[in-house]
Amino acid sequence: MNPANLGIPSTIPQGAPPVRHYLQFSDLSTDETRYILARAAFIKAKFKTFTRHQPLVDRTLAMIFEKASTRTRVSFEAGMYQLGGSVVHLTTGDSQLGRAEPIEDSARVISRMADLVMIRTFEQTKIERFAEYSRVPVINGLTNEFHPCQILADIFTYIEHRGPIQGKTVAWVGDGNNMANTWLQAAALLGFKVNVSTPRGYEVDEEIATGPLEISASSYETYSDPMDACRDADLVTTDVWTSMGFEAENEIRKQAFATWRVNTDMMAAAKPDALFMHCLPAHRGEEVDADVIDGPQSVVWDEAENRMHVQKALMEYLLLGKID
Ligand code: CP
Ligand code: NVA
Repeated sequence: MNPANLGIPSTIPQGAPPVRHYLQFSDLSTDETRYILARAAFIKAKFKTFTRHQPLVDRTLAMIFEKASTRTRVSFEAGMYQLGGSVVHLTTGDSQLGRAEPIEDSARVISRMADLVMIRTFEQTKIERFAEYSRVPVINGLTNEFHPCQILADIFTYIEHRGPIQGKTVAWVGDGNNMANTWLQAAALLGFKVNVSTPRGYEVDEEIATGPLEISASSYETYSDPMDACRDADLVTTDVWTSMGFEAENEIRKQAFATWRVNTDMMAAAKPDALFMHCLPAHRGEEVDADVIDGPQSVVWDEAENRMHVQKALMEYLLLGKID
């Protein structure tokens, strides 16, 4: 049947604005990122006062998970329902994605029915291929290279507790992984500095991390001793020694990372009002001591909750743009 006969367009109308994706932190400008952080505060305040905010009624978020998740799933799912929309949850095991349907075909099909797609997968190239063929915005819910929604939440949490992050220093202690890469992008975009200390062999790959951004000495410095990285920092943060997908390296990593455990001495080297963050899940006694993650400087539970608030602002922005 010719859709023209029904008056229903099967293609995207000419002149429609280009679809925006959030595949890495640098996909949004400094202004846009600041808008989303401010909007998240507005949306969070509404939620906390039981004031309905449902701009996405009738819209659907498809969530594709090729790796495990607790926070990302709950925060996107709860957040989308709160915005008035609904959610479809797919995994590799229960969809044709796990049976070798080309990613380009999956993108074409899913984006004909869903209005937004969130993907957690392995290589960044996979989400990029999906986005290339998607008619709707695609959000990175974690890849091997980046975790932009987490860093949005972390920065929002910092601002909630301490005010603007511009000009501050973040100490990264641990693996040069998806979180570290994303911190570097955020620092370049928002004007703060990251002191990075990783074991030898686990350094940040600057080319991947920076992407299209200019990373200068004012936003990124490396330290061989994690204690030095923490000195006078405003925020100390770390992550698991072994990220998802790298489990085969677990034992060798345990040896390499043994002294990259955030402890009370490192927190004492940081500023007296320094915060501690961890994207979670955490392994007490590995990358962080219980005294730190369960101590007074830790804001990890706020950090987890704020995933939901910032992602609500992000989803609203990607579909509706700035709302005055
Ligand atoms: N921090 C984070 O992304 O947690 P999940 O792996 O539980 O989603
Ligand atoms: N770097 C970790 C983050 C988990 C939320 C991983 O990729 O497994």
